[in-house]
Amino acid sequence: MKRIYIDHNATTPVHPEVMREILPFFETDFGNPSSIHQYGQKAHYALEHAREQTAKLLNASPGEIYFTSGGTEADNLAIKGTSSALQKHGNHIITSQIEHNAVLNPCKFLESNGFKITYLPVDSTGVVKLDELKKALTDKTILVSIMTANNETGTIEPVEEIGKIIKDFNLKTGSARRVLFHTDAVQAAGKIKLDVDKLNVDLLSISGHKINAPKGVGALFVRKGTKMQPLLHGGHHEGNLRAGTENITGIVGLGKACEIALNSLEKESTHLLKLRNKLWEGIVKNIEHIHLNTHPTQSLPNTLNLSFEYIEGESLLLNLDLKGIAASAGSACTSGNMEPSHVLSAMGVNPILAQGSLRFSLGLNNTEKDIDYIIETLPVIVAKLRAMSPLNKRQ
Ligand SMILES: Cc1ncc(COP(=O)(O)O)c(C=O)c1O
Repeated sequence: MKRIYIDHNATTPVHPEVMREILPFFETDFGNPSSIHQYGQKAHYALEHAREQTAKLLNASPGEIYFTSGGTEADNLAIKGTSSALQKHGNHIITSQIEHNAVLNPCKFLESNGFKITYLPVDSTGVVKLDELKKALTDKTILVSIMTANNETGTIEPVEEIGKIIKDFNLKTGSARRVLFHTDAVQAAGKIKLDVDKLNVDLLSISGHKINAPKGVGALFVRKGTKMQPLLHGGHHEGNLRAGTENITGIVGLGKACEIALNSLEKESTHLLKLRNKLWEGIVKNIEHIHLNTHPTQSLPNTLNLSFEYIEGESLLLNLDLKGIAASAGSACTSGNMEPSHVLSAMGVNPILAQGSLRFSLGLNNTEKDIDYIIETLPVIVAKLRAMSPLNKRQ
């Protein structure tokens, strides 16, 4: 049977060039970068080269890149690391209702330890309400954490404008202490251009396995001079901010994936957008009673999230899988959980419609033929499920 993977926001395959780059570091070049001998030096050189490649993707300096075990750790380090360093200045953090759990749960943890958290609402297209952000900033605020693009819907947040609002607030209050701005760019990296200066961010998280590098590696950009406490205490690795012998194979892979992403960003995003538009047009033409949950213009080029009336997303997903199509209902981390997505709920999507949501996320190996197959297969499945659905009152 034909098999199509169209769930790249969950994870991606390792790029063949990334794979080639990594292999020697399992076999011949397995040294510890802290060792003095040739083995160690080779690993140390690879580590610093990967730091340069990663920094380049974000227009940062290599010294501002700290490798972590993934997006979750980068988000935790950004939020808990800054809040413990800055708690004497204030105990207020602002985030949004649509963040990934890697941001929401550290915030909830801090909330249970005396911090005050504001969860900003979004509009019906999933965009954070900027007037609410302006109202929420106080002299107790130490950090704002708003994602660059949402993993479920692909909607891009106005990060540059948010950075400007925070910068203006800091200038107006004029105190030595300033509000820091973190963005979770785990889904945005490699799909849209990222420039930490243009975005006015102090901290930015990325994850290897979302950009065709291995799982278990990520990075946090930390602007020079930002006060942070480590999460892990141990050796002097990563500028004393992240103890533990470095995951050289993963880090080499992340560096190479960043280099590839930077060099192919325009070509790849044009290709993905063309495929995604074809998919959307094919679905709209062939299926009635659907709702678009992805922002119509401000969205990642690879993501399409839609709701189908009278159907549950899970049944749709299972039937697609039987036909060889691997997509997703909501985010991978919440699959198997019948609660409607917190992202769609925050957008005000009716809970029944939210349960009928499906996410297609395109990537490296998807082709026009894949899209043709989905457009051919999906309407048949939808018609079959609707005919059986107790939710379908029109029968
Ligand atoms: C927006 C976002 N942030 C953070 C994460 C967590 O990244 P990781 O799987 O590398 O821990 C994910 C993973 O799905 C994500 O989509």
